[in-house]
Amino acid sequence: MNLPIRPRRNRQSPAIRDLVRETVLTPGNLIYPLFLQEGDENTPISAMPGCQRWCIADLVKEAGEAHALGIPAVVLFPRIPEELKTSGAEECYNDEGLVPRAIRALKAAHPTLAVITDVALDPYNSDGHDGLVSADGSILNDESVEVLCKQALCHARAGADIVAPSDMMDGRVESIREALDDEDFTQVSIMSYTAKYASAYYGPFRGALDSAPKAGDKKTYQMDPANALEALREAAIDEAEGADILMVKPAGPYLDIITRLRDATALPIAAYQVSGEYLMIKAGAAAGWLDEDKVALESLIGIRRAGANMILTYFAKKVAAVL
Ligand code: PBG
Repeated sequence: MNLPIRPRRNRQSPAIRDLVRETVLTPGNLIYPLFLQEGDENTPISAMPGCQRWCIADLVKEAGEAHALGIPAVVLFPRIPEELKTSGAEECYNDEGLVPRAIRALKAAHPTLAVITDVALDPYNSDGHDGLVSADGSILNDESVEVLCKQALCHARAGADIVAPSDMMDGRVESIREALDDEDFTQVSIMSYTAKYASAYYGPFRGALDSAPKAGDKKTYQMDPANALEALREAAIDEAEGADILMVKPAGPYLDIITRLRDATALPIAAYQVSGEYLMIKAGAAAGWLDEDKVALESLIGIRRAGANMILTYFAKKVAAVL
């Protein structure tokens, strides 16, 4: 055949481009991470322009606006006052703590909004680690899992729809599932941070919550950025332990991991576009170098194309408004 093959025919008009498009991004794919704090004021987060730490009343308003734009879920990140942080992180399972109060307020105002909570000790732990720290500085696995179960139960009692363990301790998905089922919270889902890498892209987030580790780093529990097979192993374990949704985090620099998990499991995949990924786009736009809306949309469609069903992104509300 001597005819030239012309792929451009499929790109020639908006109508045809609509017909051949392989990936779509809708507000229904987005999860909106929200920071919260005590008191009745909001505090802008300097390292994350456009983000605030909300007081509960305004958190409820912001979540309601996002939900009205079609965003189905929010995920909560509390800033815990320094004086409530302890080496045992006991505040994380206080039923009158900041997170349970926020969950109750959100569910009362917006019953159809799914509320997701982060299960990890770092905001509550005077050591700033996701697990408990022993005298020699190592991170205790099984002792941490016991506390994480109490935290997950506390969130479930307050009305959380999904708990999301972000701590990377071994065996926590199974233990949390058992703890939830024992208390008849069989409908509460587990979104497991399955492949959570020890990433420098979390820097702005830790600043926003004053949650950076006081000593050492997170490399004995979060994954080495060099590893992909290890993510497959973590995915198989979390699936066997009863996770409902598997997460890859960060998202943009780990698109290959999203695709490999997509091919390896039938579970839904979530991807977290983290604070550093957000900040890079914001900084480029603030300098006048990038078109913020277009780059944000392109970054998200890329994450969807890689195989993520849902994306946690600080752009969620803005992008939903554009869509
Ligand atoms: C804590 C947690 C972190 C993020 C979400 N949950 C930080 C960390 O592991 O140090 C990072 C999110 C972001 O950077 O946007 N368990």
